[in-house]
Amino acid sequence: MRQQSDTNGPGHVAIIMDGNGRWAQQRGRPRLMGHHAGARRVREILKACPDHDVKYLTLFAFSTENWKRTQTEVAGLMTLFRKYIQREAMSLLENGVRVRFIGDRIRLDEKLVSLMDNLELLTADNDLVHLTIALNYGGRDEVTRAAKRLAYEIEMGRLTHKDVDAETLARFLDTHFLPDPDLVIRTSGEARISNFLLWQSAYAEYEFVDTLWPDFTAAEFGRVLAKYGQRDRRFGAVLA
Ligand code: FPP
Repeated sequence: MRQQSDTNGPGHVAIIMDGNGRWAQQRGRPRLMGHHAGARRVREILKACPDHDVKYLTLFAFSTENWKRTQTEVAGLMTLFRKYIQREAMSLLENGVRVRFIGDRIRLDEKLVSLMDNLELLTADNDLVHLTIALNYGGRDEVTRAAKRLAYEIEMGRLTHKDVDAETLARFLDTHFLPDPDLVIRTSGEARISNFLLWQSAYAEYEFVDTLWPDFTAAEFGRVLAKYGQRDRRFGAVLA
C-alpha cells in the first residue's frame, strides 16, 4: 500500500459532505431535497478534480450510524444512490473516472450492491480520477472487519502473529487500494471526524468549512486546495 500520493497538491482528498439536511430545512423543504442538491454538488466537485491534480476523491455518503435516521430518509438515500449510479454511470466511464466503494455491503440491498459491483467493473480501466464512495462505512467497523479477516488468516495458518504490523493490517482494510488521504474536508461548520477514515487519516490535514455541502462550489473547493498548498506537512519529523 502506498502511504501518500505523489503530487505536490493534495493528491487524495476525502470529504465529509455535511449539511444537506440543514440546507433543505432552511428552505422549508424535506431533508431529502438537500441530499439531492448534495448529489448535484458531487458532480461539480468531481469534475474539478483533474484541474487541481486531485487523483483520488473519497466521499462519505452513508455511515454505519446513518441507519438511525428515519426510515423515510434512509430509504430515500438508498434510492438516491441507486439513481445516481444509473444516471451517472456512462458519464463517469466517458470522463475517465474509476469508481470504487468502501464500507460493509452486507446491510445494503441486493439491487444497490449489484449496481455498485457493475459500476466498479465498468470503470475498472479508468485512471484519470479515482472516486471512492463510502457507503455503510464506519472507521471502527472497517478496522474491526480487517482484524477479523487477519485473525482468520492466522487461524488458517496462512499468517502468524509475527506478520501482524501496520502494513499487513492495512492490506485488510477496505481502502487497501488507496493512498492515505492528504486532506480531509468537512463542510457545514462541524469540527468532527465522525468515524471517517480513522486509520488512514493519521497524518492528514483537516479543513473544516462553514458552507453547507449543497452550497460548496468548485470555486470554494479550489480555495481550500490552495490553502492546503501553503501548509507545511512534516509527518511527525522535524524539517531542517
Ligand atoms: C450529511 O448531511 C449527508 C449525508 C448523510 C448524505 C450524503 C449524501 C449525498 C451528498 C448524496 C449523494 C452522494 C453520492 C455519492 C451520490 P446531513 O443530512 O447530516 O445534514 P445535516 O447535518 O444538516 O442534517
